[in-house]
Amino acid sequence: MNNNTKEMLRSKFITFEGTEGVGKTTQIELLQEYLQSKKIKTLVTREPGGTKTGERIREILLDKKSTNLDSHAELLLMFAARAQHLDEVIYPALQKNIWVLCDRFTDASYAYQGGGRGVPLSEILKLESVVQGNFQPDLTILLTCDIKTGMQRVARRGKKDRFEKERLEFFEQVQDTYLQRAKDNPLRIRVVNADQAINEVAIAIQTTVNQRFPELLF
Ligand code: TMP
Repeated sequence: MNNNTKEMLRSKFITFEGTEGVGKTTQIELLQEYLQSKKIKTLVTREPGGTKTGERIREILLDKKSTNLDSHAELLLMFAARAQHLDEVIYPALQKNIWVLCDRFTDASYAYQGGGRGVPLSEILKLESVVQGNFQPDLTILLTCDIKTGMQRVARRGKKDRFEKERLEFFEQVQDTYLQRAKDNPLRIRVVNADQAINEVAIAIQTTVNQRFPELLF
C-alpha cells in the first residue's frame, strides 16, 4: 500500500468551532448522519469535556459560581481537560479507524482565552505543544454568524453559563480571532456562514468535507 492510499484510508479528526448560538450541535449531528450514510464509523465528542474527568472540569469552567477565575487558570483547565480527552477518547478512536467529530478544540483556546481574555498567543502555543505535540485536526469547520443573533438564540435557551454571560464585544473579539486563524490556516480551517437555513448550512459543510476528503465520493 503506498502512502497516498494509507492517507486516504486513515480516519479523520474534524472539529467544529464558532461563537455561542451558531448551531454547532445540530450541524455535528447532521454531518454524523451523512458520514454514517457512507458507512463511516463516527464518534461525536466535545470540549471542554468528553471524558468523566473532562466533564467535571467543564462544570468548574462553565459554573457562574467560579467567580474571578484567573485567565491562566481558565486556560490551564481547558488544556487539562484536553490532555485527558486526547489520551482517553480521541487518539484511541482514531487508532480504531473511527472518525472523530469534536465540538470545539484548541482553536477555541486561541479564540476565547487568546482573543477574548487577552492571554498572549505565545503562551497558548507552548501549552498546545506540550499537550498535543504536532497533532492537529484534519479539518476544522468554523461556523460564523451575526453575534447578536447568536446571543439571542442563547438567551431563548434559558439559563446562561459563565461564558454565555460575556458582553457582545467579547464575542466579537472571539469571532475575529477565529477568522484570523482561518486566514492563517486556509487548508485546515474552512469558514461556513451559519446565517442561512439549517439544511443549507449542512449542505455547505458536506461540500467542504467532500472537497477536503475526495475519497468520500468514491
Ligand atoms: P460549548 O458551550 O460550545 O459547549 O462550549 C463551552 C464554552 O467553553 C464556550 O463558551 C467556549 C468555551 N471554551 C473556551 O473558552 N476555550 C476552549 O478551549 C474551549 C474548548 C471552550
